[in-house]
Amino acid sequence: MTAASRHVRISRKTDEAQDTCSFELIDTEGGGLPPFSAGSHIDVHVAEGLVRQYSLCNDPRETHRYLIAVLREPASRGGSVAMHAMQEGQELRISEPKNHFSLAHDSRHSVLLAGGIGITPILCMAERLSMIGASFEMHYCTRSPDRTAFAERIRASSFADRVHLHHDSGPATQKLDIAATLASPQAGAHLYVCGPSGFMDAVLSAARAAGWTESCLHREYFAGAAADTTHDGTFEVQLASTGAVIRVAADQTVVAALAAVGVRLPVSCEQGVCGTCLTRVIDGTPDHRDMYLTDEEQARGDQFTPCCSRAKTPRLVLDL
Ligand code: FES
Repeated sequence: MTAASRHVRISRKTDEAQDTCSFELIDTEGGGLPPFSAGSHIDVHVAEGLVRQYSLCNDPRETHRYLIAVLREPASRGGSVAMHAMQEGQELRISEPKNHFSLAHDSRHSVLLAGGIGITPILCMAERLSMIGASFEMHYCTRSPDRTAFAERIRASSFADRVHLHHDSGPATQKLDIAATLASPQAGAHLYVCGPSGFMDAVLSAARAAGWTESCLHREYFAGAAADTTHDGTFEVQLASTGAVIRVAADQTVVAALAAVGVRLPVSCEQGVCGTCLTRVIDGTPDHRDMYLTDEEQARGDQFTPCCSRAKTPRLVLDL
């Protein structure tokens, strides 16, 4: 369930690289689309009950279209395969753009790091930073040149000289040395990373080891980490507004337990990535399972993502 939604038509579907297609989406009535900022994503209703988040990767000044790109991952939960089956002219329901991965306004230099399909929000950020004349560098790691989406667009862009391409298949000398790239962080520099979770974890660990400030590290995950659920137990949540107490079974999410008693929370990714379901915790200690909150925010324990997170205490009192 999302807030506002609108219908768009696929006006162009393009093969961008092996297993990666881009989809240009336009308003079905031919009107303009809501503006968006670099790092934004939209929810795409791929099929009944199947909602996926895709970053917008066109120039954020454009309002006549949204551009998304999708990597076909047969082993995933089905969203990317369904998207790849779509054709030009087909209509889709999408949400308004949302941004949980925005550029910091006070940045003196930005280091953009993309792994694979993680290029989508990063490319949009590069367009924006280039447009405002900001200092930045971009590193784009892919398996091989034929799996490098948007290579031509990058080569033809005004910021091509700030982009470093790295391929797993290429010589060792061109591979990204993450530790060397992130050593000695400049004052006021911000780092943005998007890609497979292993790549992102390696980048964030190297940045922390090099002394980057946590608030200067920005990341966007595509999918939640697989959690070990073997020791999940039951617990209770209490609604602060009414005092009602709801039991959450071991194999049930808080969102599902609340929905069963008629309390419907807004959800989108349902795997702790997007932050749509974020809920304030008034009492009790959450067991965080999300990739959305920072370590500091998780440690504060005053909010959690009920689509996937649980409780360390027998009861959580929620600001609902
Ligand atoms: S619905 Fe996306 S974090 Fe909960």
